[in-house]
Amino acid sequence: MTADTLIEAPDVAQPATGWSQEAIARCVATVVRSRRATRAFKAQPLGRALVEEILADAACAPSGANIQPWRVYVVSGAVKNELTDALVAASRAGTAPAPEHFPEPLPDTYRARLADFGARYYASLGIERHDTPARTRQTERNYAFFGAPVGLVFSIDRRLKAHSWIDLGLFAQSVMIAAKARGIDTCPQVAFAQFHEPIAAHLQMPADEVTAFGMSMGYGDPEAEVNRARMPRERVQDFARLLGFGD
Ligand SMILES: Cc1cc2nc3c(=O)[nH]c(=O)nc-3n(C[C@H](O)[C@H](O)[C@H](O)COP(=O)(O)O)c2cc1C
Repeated sequence: MTADTLIEAPDVAQPATGWSQEAIARCVATVVRSRRATRAFKAQPLGRALVEEILADAACAPSGANIQPWRVYVVSGAVKNELTDALVAASRAGTAPAPEHFPEPLPDTYRARLADFGARYYASLGIERHDTPARTRQTERNYAFFGAPVGLVFSIDRRLKAHSWIDLGLFAQSVMIAAKARGIDTCPQVAFAQFHEPIAAHLQMPADEVTAFGMSMGYGDPEAEVNRARMPRERVQDFARLLGFGD
């Protein structure tokens, strides 16, 4: 993309709504705090126009030097189902490289949180800790985008560094918030990263792109137990140090 193909950023400094700052803050907090990783969806479809609106909002995400390194493939219908079939087949073949998203060994603090996540997640599904076949079946649900009508695959130029992967993460969170503001649920999924080869072949990605993660998108099923699992957060005083405030 060259500079002359860029669209001008809209000036949204003054909200057009006439809402008070307090109302806007409450609204944003409600959306941010109600977003959940959603792993069961209603059959209700999601139209192309709505997805494009969400992506246009998310494209306002910041990026270092405004290089906007995000790339996203959005799949629905038969294209999504064919991708799912290819990934399930690749997963069952057991030929994909091992997942690399956490170091081995994982530092204790994070290992404890990972264990807490696993306990909550599998309890919400009624899956016992040592029931490996059931866990494997649930992992495979990732590749079916947990039954969501729309799936996204986020990729990035493999030559870029960690700095630009931050941009991609900010973009993804913006997608999730823009979706949630419209009542649409999502689940970000690193489970796709392992399957770059079949994904790239299926989506005809250029050779310089690498799959970073996927995302399910649709209307969450509020009745599904898995969507009722709640993941706790550290308190601000435990992860932040505020310095120089004089109190
Ligand atoms: C980068 C990233 C990758 C993730 N990968 C997966 C995944 O592969 N499968 C999955 O079910 N959830 C995945 N999640 C969802 C997390 O488990 C979830 O965000 C976390 O447990 C906090 O729960 P919450 O989002 O409902 O607040 C991922 C989240 C992020 C941010």
